[in-house]
Amino acid sequence: MSSEEVKRKIQDLSREIEKHNYNYYILSQAQISDYDFDMLLDELIALEKKYPEFQFPDSPTQKVGGAVTKEFKTIKHKYPMLSLANTYSEDEIKDFDKRVRKIIGDKVEYVCELKYDGVAIGLTYINGSLTQAVTRGDGVQGDDVTNNVKTIKSIPLKLRGDFPPEFEIRGEIFFPHKVFQKLNEKKIENGEAPFANPRNAASGTLKMQDSAFVAMRPLDCFLYNVQGDNLSFKTHYESLKKAAEWGLKVSPNVAVCQKVEDIFEYINDWNTGRSELSYDIDGVVIKVNSMTDRERLGFTAKSPRWAIAYKFKAERVTTKLLSIDYQVGRTGAVTPVANLEAVPLAGTTVKRASLHNADIISKLDVRIGDTVFVEKGGEIIPKIVGVDLEKRPPHLLHTEFIKNCPECNTPLVRQKGEAAHYCPNENECPPQIKGKLEHFISRKAMNIDSLGEGKIAMLFDNDLINNVADLYDFSYDKLIGLEKTYPATEEKAERKISFKDKTVRNILKGVENSKSTTFERVLFALGIRYVGETVAKRLARYFRNINNLMIADFEELVNVDEIGESIAQAVINYFKDKKNITLIFRLRQNGLHFEIDNESEDIVNKLDGKSFVVSGVFEKFSRNEIKKLIEKNAGKNVSAISKKTNYILAGENMGPAKLKKANDLGISVISEDEFLKMIE
Ligand code: IVH
Repeated sequence: MSSEEVKRKIQDLSREIEKHNYNYYILSQAQISDYDFDMLLDELIALEKKYPEFQFPDSPTQKVGGAVTKEFKTIKHKYPMLSLANTYSEDEIKDFDKRVRKIIGDKVEYVCELKYDGVAIGLTYINGSLTQAVTRGDGVQGDDVTNNVKTIKSIPLKLRGDFPPEFEIRGEIFFPHKVFQKLNEKKIENGEAPFANPRNAASGTLKMQDSAFVAMRPLDCFLYNVQGDNLSFKTHYESLKKAAEWGLKVSPNVAVCQKVEDIFEYINDWNTGRSELSYDIDGVVIKVNSMTDRERLGFTAKSPRWAIAYKFKAERVTTKLLSIDYQVGRTGAVTPVANLEAVPLAGTTVKRASLHNADIISKLDVRIGDTVFVEKGGEIIPKIVGVDLEKRPPHLLHTEFIKNCPECNTPLVRQKGEAAHYCPNENECPPQIKGKLEHFISRKAMNIDSLGEGKIAMLFDNDLINNVADLYDFSYDKLIGLEKTYPATEEKAERKISFKDKTVRNILKGVENSKSTTFERVLFALGIRYVGETVAKRLARYFRNINNLMIADFEELVNVDEIGESIAQAVINYFKDKKNITLIFRLRQNGLHFEIDNESEDIVNKLDGKSFVVSGVFEKFSRNEIKKLIEKNAGKNVSAISKKTNYILAGENMGPAKLKKANDLGISVISEDEFLKMIE
């Protein structure tokens, strides 16, 4: 292909992908299959890689992420990001309406919108291309999170139609419920603390340093305020309609109202209707529609006089606290859970509520027998927010957090700075053993899908497994004929589990097949605290085999790229325990992989274990791609420069402090091209 043809092909592909993105993410009407879409995207990625000179900054391939930001640049907002006056009372909405009518007269018109509960964002489009995305920050200046925002599928990188040459549009970035739930399930599976609510999850995700990880968590966004110099809209409603025409995601749930009664109707409709939405809202925003009216109303120091937010009250009920259960999770963390007298709340019957940890219990001074206030706020699980002291009967006993594990009676420990109590009896405490086994067999770990939670429980109850190595001692005779009925619990109906011929054969086959699992996944499957999928990959690629990892000291571990102090300490603690060493020995004897398989990984030994610090911005590859190339060629990525570092791979904008340190220690600083020559 001539370069003109390549350029045209790249443009055509980009346009086609943009069209499908718009159909799918804005109109929710896919016109091609996921497979065909991926094929188009792969073709474009391959072409851009081959001809980087034709990769445009707003190419749809940007949506897969890859750019890494160590620290987000602070950007001053062109228009300050104000907040809104808030109210919970209908009377104050009436007062707002009166104030507006006093200045504007009786012909006022309002637009009612939903108040999305996410993270505020300001997007700048210049000549139809997304050039900047900035968080609210303190309202005057915020963080430049453009690379991360570019991965959000419902935010177009390029606009369509007759957009103004430059404008900003503000909106809210959030996680839909389903995505949030999956994200938390994954966190729990990896032994990490789940996010408290979708808003925290969205905010944490937007601040991630590697946009490739942001791209893996499908955030969404609604846009609600167009602003800029010389925009010609007469009304806010018109600006929203236009924004939708340019391909931006604007909510369809917008209503134009003339009377305050219409506003109340909108509020009431959504107060009940919100439980059916697939995302969180925490109220309604009421805005004056006419732009000239808005100008006349102006601003107070903090917020516009032309808008107000009506916040929904978190639904709250009172009920009686009957008892407190203490649940032990896979990592040994103990969570207190309140058993309540059943009470209806926000469409469901609540019988249990989280009490989180010992601090919350003592802060609330909640006692068994108390009448408690229960709320369902942004969090998924209802929580106890207070005690009705007037209803407290005399002589109720203080709640003492348990001292011993409710499952194995081991004294609980609480580490400095941590809110949770832990049962340290990792290898003998039943829920921890079962949790570890469930993690081990899970899809992303050893992927033994012929086993599941029920079968694991049965094998454990029959004393056939106590740790993951026992799985490899199974035989047909040991398993056949086992049977047990598990009574119904609050979460699950009664279950009868029986091991017949086919079940047993499948289990044995699944266990046998798992022996070919790669070292990275075996390492993840071991369930070492804080060693999730990504960390396991990093450790496996750096240390190459379990022996090197076992003898690594703290300093060496923290020097591995992206490995922090808590992970390093957790790894060291794990290998300090002789039982874990025996376990690994048994697993190895059974043929599990405890070293990187060079062939299957396609590893070439060109860099021969040399360590690299990658810094700055590169021309041909993203920083992430460079790091992958280092690993692929048997090199190591380290995070900080030390005497042991072999090379500094310097891109543009590498920090002067790093350069000085490299020079002081006499470490070779090489360019992207020099590096590429090394691995040619
Ligand atoms: S308008 C000048 N509309 O609520 C005010 N804000 O407390 C521009 N929010 O900072 C904001 N949904 O983060 C507006 N439909 C909506 C909104 C909305 C959520 C957030 C936004 C704002 C905060 C105000």
